[in-house]
Amino acid sequence: MKKLSVRLKGEMKVPGDKSISHRAVMLGSIAHGKTVIDGLLTGDDCISTIDCFRKLGVEIHLDGDHVEINGKGLEGLQEPNQVLNVGNSGTTIRLMLGILSSLPFHTTVIGDDSIAKRPMGRVTIPLKEMGAKIDGREEGKFTPLAIRGGGLKGIDYISSVASAQVKSAILLAGLFANGNTSVSEPEASRDHTERMLQEFGGFVETDGLKKSIRGKQTLKGANINVPGDISSAAFFLVAGSIIPDSEIRIKNVGMNPTRTGILDILTKMGADIMIHNENDKVMEPYADITVRYSNLKGVEISGDIIPRLIDEIPILALAATQAEGVTVIKDAEELKVKETNRIDTVVNELRKLGANIEATEDGMKIYGKSNLHGAEVNSHGDHRIGMMLAIASCLASGDTHIQNSEAITISYPGFFEQLEELKK
Ligand code: S3P
Repeated sequence: MKKLSVRLKGEMKVPGDKSISHRAVMLGSIAHGKTVIDGLLTGDDCISTIDCFRKLGVEIHLDGDHVEINGKGLEGLQEPNQVLNVGNSGTTIRLMLGILSSLPFHTTVIGDDSIAKRPMGRVTIPLKEMGAKIDGREEGKFTPLAIRGGGLKGIDYISSVASAQVKSAILLAGLFANGNTSVSEPEASRDHTERMLQEFGGFVETDGLKKSIRGKQTLKGANINVPGDISSAAFFLVAGSIIPDSEIRIKNVGMNPTRTGILDILTKMGADIMIHNENDKVMEPYADITVRYSNLKGVEISGDIIPRLIDEIPILALAATQAEGVTVIKDAEELKVKETNRIDTVVNELRKLGANIEATEDGMKIYGKSNLHGAEVNSHGDHRIGMMLAIASCLASGDTHIQNSEAITISYPGFFEQLEELKK
């Protein structure tokens, strides 16, 4: 029997932006003086960052989403007597490798089973070129990694991938290196590191897709307000668009233009999205967003918009199952090296629910519109797959059981509680 989906209605706030939260803790830890952060994401990934910097001797006080850091500069960091464990967090390991490469002592870095499969050569190769000594599995291309840094020299690096993690690792190493460092990427990736470095008194130059940083800079502590994470809001933007009769207002969502590809694509699909109370006079712009149910149509998602919505592709794939016509996602091979191979996990899990979806070399094709039905599905430990499946289950007839749904706390503690609240 067809279960009627429960409409979602109400006003909500999503937790702090994950990318900005990591960077605030890291820059606060290597700056001189006090850093105060409000609205920090307290998901498992950011707690891993805090834990690593505490092991490096940084005093970090966490009270709810309020953080105070007593920064003593890069020189204040101490050789840890324990392994640094990044858990599931790719941003923690890649950005931290940039900082560890400047430290004249030994550190060892590990992560969970997913991190062990993710490519680290994309950061360890340029960092070794700058002079860091990094060893590890497959010549430093995979964890566990051992680093002995210090005495770096600036390089001009051309990255073959549009990755903010690669760009940020190199810029952070360049901050303390001798001479200038630059990194160029094929398309623009998120620019939170560049924006935040300025907030801490640092200086990064932008020339199109090339970012340059002068070495031997000193950062000063800062006050940082973290806006809501648009990648978390994305689950509710899609839920509101595909569940009949829904209307959701999400307050204080980060609107950095390098992250708003989801809004462009949903609008192109015919979603009913309104943006209010925009504030773009701050380091990271934010706004309130209202979404209402509407009829969607299939679109092509490809080219330079991909880095602007890379983390939203799983939930956009679900939106496409409810859109009239075909949605083609191209140029997204980076999905294969995320927390899971997100081409495979999205296709396999959505198929279990009855979606008409196929994997391609660099993305997927989705044929809408499908009636989804309940099934036994699995997040495979990937937070964004878990949340996409939870939204899919609101629409599917019958019961859906999500295995490994606890992974959602990696980026969104309180997700299920907020979802239930919107059903009331
Ligand atoms: C992130 C960058 C992106 C993104 C990840 C967070 C960041 O990864 O997928 O969730 O905070 O810099 P890549 O830099 O590998 O594209």
